[in-house]
Amino acid sequence: MRLSTSALSLLVASSASFIHAPALAFGSVNNYSNHTTKRSLASNSNNRTGLSLGRLPLAFQPKSSIANIMSTRGGSTTSATCDSKVALNSAVADTEEKAAPTEIFRTNYAPLTNIVTNISMDFNIQDGKTTIVSEMTIKVNPNGPGSGDLVLDGDETCVSLMELSVDGKTLEEGSDYVLSPGQLVIKGSALNNGAGLLRTVVETIPEENTQLSGLYKSGPMYCTQCEAMGFRRITYYPDRPDNMAVFDEIRIEADKESYPVLLGNGNLLEKGDIEDSDGRHYATWSDPFPKPSYLFCIVAGSLRSISDTYTTTSGKEVHLEIFSEKENVNKLDYAMDSLKRSMQWDEDKFGLEYDLGIYNIVAVNDFNMGAMENKGLNVFNTAYVLADPATATDTDYARVEGVIGHEYFHNWTGNRVTCRDWFQLTLKEGLTVFRDQEFSGDMGSNAVKRIEDVGSLRARQFAEDAGPMSHPIRPESYISMDNFYTATVYSKGAEIIRMYNTLLGEDGFRKGMDLYFERHDGSGVTCDDFRAAMADANDFDLDQFGLWYTTNGTPTIVYESKFEDGVFKLTLTQKSNSDKPMHIPISTGLIDKVTGKEVVSTKVLELKEETQTFEFPGLENDVVPSMLRGFSAPVKLVSSTGDVDEESLAFLAASDTDGFNRWEAGQRLFTSLTFQEMKGEKSDDTTGYVMEAVERTLASEDMDPSIKAYALTLPSESTLAEEIADGEVDPVALRDARGAVRIAIARKFQKELQTIYDSLTKEMSADEEFKVDAESVGQRRLRNTVLGYLTCIKETGDEQKAAADLATAHYDSATGMTDKMAALGALASMDGEGADARDAALQRFYDEAEGDALVLNKWFSVQALANLPDVLDRVKALIEHPDFTLSNPNRCRSLISAFTMNAAPFHAENGEGYEFIGKMLAELDALNPQISSRMGSSLIQWRRFGDNRATLMKAELQKLSEMKLSDDLFEIVQRGLK
Ligand code: BES
Ligand code: ZN
Repeated sequence: MRLSTSALSLLVASSASFIHAPALAFGSVNNYSNHTTKRSLASNSNNRTGLSLGRLPLAFQPKSSIANIMSTRGGSTTSATCDSKVALNSAVADTEEKAAPTEIFRTNYAPLTNIVTNISMDFNIQDGKTTIVSEMTIKVNPNGPGSGDLVLDGDETCVSLMELSVDGKTLEEGSDYVLSPGQLVIKGSALNNGAGLLRTVVETIPEENTQLSGLYKSGPMYCTQCEAMGFRRITYYPDRPDNMAVFDEIRIEADKESYPVLLGNGNLLEKGDIEDSDGRHYATWSDPFPKPSYLFCIVAGSLRSISDTYTTTSGKEVHLEIFSEKENVNKLDYAMDSLKRSMQWDEDKFGLEYDLGIYNIVAVNDFNMGAMENKGLNVFNTAYVLADPATATDTDYARVEGVIGHEYFHNWTGNRVTCRDWFQLTLKEGLTVFRDQEFSGDMGSNAVKRIEDVGSLRARQFAEDAGPMSHPIRPESYISMDNFYTATVYSKGAEIIRMYNTLLGEDGFRKGMDLYFERHDGSGVTCDDFRAAMADANDFDLDQFGLWYTTNGTPTIVYESKFEDGVFKLTLTQKSNSDKPMHIPISTGLIDKVTGKEVVSTKVLELKEETQTFEFPGLENDVVPSMLRGFSAPVKLVSSTGDVDEESLAFLAASDTDGFNRWEAGQRLFTSLTFQEMKGEKSDDTTGYVMEAVERTLASEDMDPSIKAYALTLPSESTLAEEIADGEVDPVALRDARGAVRIAIARKFQKELQTIYDSLTKEMSADEEFKVDAESVGQRRLRNTVLGYLTCIKETGDEQKAAADLATAHYDSATGMTDKMAALGALASMDGEGADARDAALQRFYDEAEGDALVLNKWFSVQALANLPDVLDRVKALIEHPDFTLSNPNRCRSLISAFTMNAAPFHAENGEGYEFIGKMLAELDALNPQISSRMGSSLIQWRRFGDNRATLMKAELQKLSEMKLSDDLFEIVQRGLK
């Protein structure tokens, strides 16, 4: 976490947030009426149909179908719990045949014929069954093809349809409506000129919803997750983002003692106890802003909260409240501060204010994603909202700030202006990631943030784009939309937005944003609409730039240069999957080779043709070009000879004025040396350049400690793998080579490293309180990086003991989780004379966790990621640990996904890693397809590896393909086998 001084003062001001009991959850908000009894939609009903639906009661259904109703499909349980009534959709739910997975294409988009303009709902939450009554105002879509049938989406494996009427008239199957898997079509003839009031009653069992999509239970609370297509697991509805409706009255009723907090989107209309009801209460919420169903949310739970207020520039007071389970309420302050900073930043940077009187956030333990931007009611995975020094690392703090910002920024880029269809996902996600990156950079150091973001883009997105899941940031087709919340849509999508900013300048970008909101507030639009706003606001031609939305893969830029008569000529050639050349901004500066001074400051070279030469006249001496400054485009840059010009890199590592490129030059030198090491051809020149760069970094006195730490860190194994051709990646050899370079550096500079370590230790021990400001974070980052080097020297028994002692002492003196994890990370990979210290530290960490879920996740991860010969056995043993469960996504990821990221053991040559993951996938898929499919991606990169590994990986995919899989995992496996 890097905070500016103003951010720090906000952090200190966090005492303004206060903790209070759930009874006050609504208490401090203005103008809430508090009736005692309010009739629900259900009790309002004058058309209860009882058994007059022409269907047999459950008891009279054929046995097989009863068994089916209760059986599971795709991990969810069919909900037919009504004592006497049979669900109208039970026949669809019972069909043995599951609808074949269908591929949806972007170009087949068609607007809806009929839409829901308004909806009111009533959730009656009972143990083991929730009944949901909905009343929807149906209209002909003014932007549609005319009147016709009303198509509603609904997941019959999760939702039992009990009643169905239009304008008070019960509908008849066949003549009025048709049910099929996933859909309910109400015939145009059952509507009144395409209009009417549609009333549905459905039942669902949140307690059995293990997919965590729709309405489900997590610990002491009921909550919902609707993006992308979860609302259809709550009720039948046009569950697509181009149906924007006003959610007029959302009434939630539950037992008051068990679920004292009842939350919904928007404003609280009223709440109260229900008389003569055996302790039940209700709350009714209303959201004035039309929204797509994916932004819907309710929460009912036993929660505590902290609250605060924020006053917008125009003077609107917003009530902020963050809820969590009781034991975590003391870990919410940092999130609250981050929220206020986000609100301020969006006003300062984009002139965007919050639009409701309430902003609620709920921390949930069981959550598939990081967080969700539901209107006025964000839901957060506990891992991205809870933070205190004893349980969260500096990286965790930074994530909390970034994710809080991200979900907040969605209020404009996502909610006020949303996506027309899911192919446009990057419209909201790419843009919002760009905004959260800029926010985090502004709160701390932009240079540090950029290094981190580019690092993760290269390690994750470049890999994705080089494999079978490669797709443009705006995909052309999908089977399961859940599979397209990808690094490409998110991280590369953010890079595309960054390129607008680079091409148009900050002011031009702001003008484009203003026009975008002016044109599209309150509607669902496309990526082309965004591009048009940017172009029109600046009178800038962005037609060619559109290719970034249709082209997959990472483009390569080949450069060649010449210096003649004071003119430097730089020739750039682009290669990509696009037939036509793309529009690529290459920010470039020139450094004089003789003086080491920058002689041409950063210029944005617009590469628009396949090959273009840029001339820089009037130079005294030859220059070294510093290209792609700040990583101005998501491309790979290579020289025309194919060789790495190490001399220039060494020069740039020392003299570039662009902080990012200085770091980049060092990384490329490390990469060269690692590959030489891997091939057994280490050159003295390269070694010299690397050691010189390290020496300079270690000696530098004015370098920001975070930058220093990153300059000393070798490229990750996955970043290095990106540079290796298909069929040639050997993760074991790569780990060995990278390890050897690391040890060589550690041994050469052991004395200097120890000096830095000691002086930082001394400096830091003088700090009286624990801080998460840029300086403290930087110091910890640097000291922990140095610890990593010092503890990798462990070849002899004595060295092993020394390394273990150092790491143990580091653990002992840790002031917070960051240092503890750095020490534990080093210890977890120790063996030989260090084994006892390793086991002791792991036991101690476990004991100190005292059952804290997020700390236990770290304990599982550190073992899954260890560099030990028997990691897989350890992971298998941990699966049996009483604290392990597959049903909590965080826990599952902490052990199993972490193992897939431990490349050397996962890719063990005998295939045992693949076999283990194959088995886990099959088991997990029945529980939670979103999690299984994401984990399944670890098996699809087989083309990257040699034949032996490729064959073994494919065999696991093949085995899976012969099983009954969820659509999510099916799509990944199928792509993987292609
Ligand atoms: N809208 C998403 C969350 C989401 C995605 C929910 C897909 C359900 C399905 C949210 O805004 C988001 O992007 N969250 C990210 C974190 C963010 C900081 C990039 C996440 O959950 O990983
Ligand atoms: Zn998002």
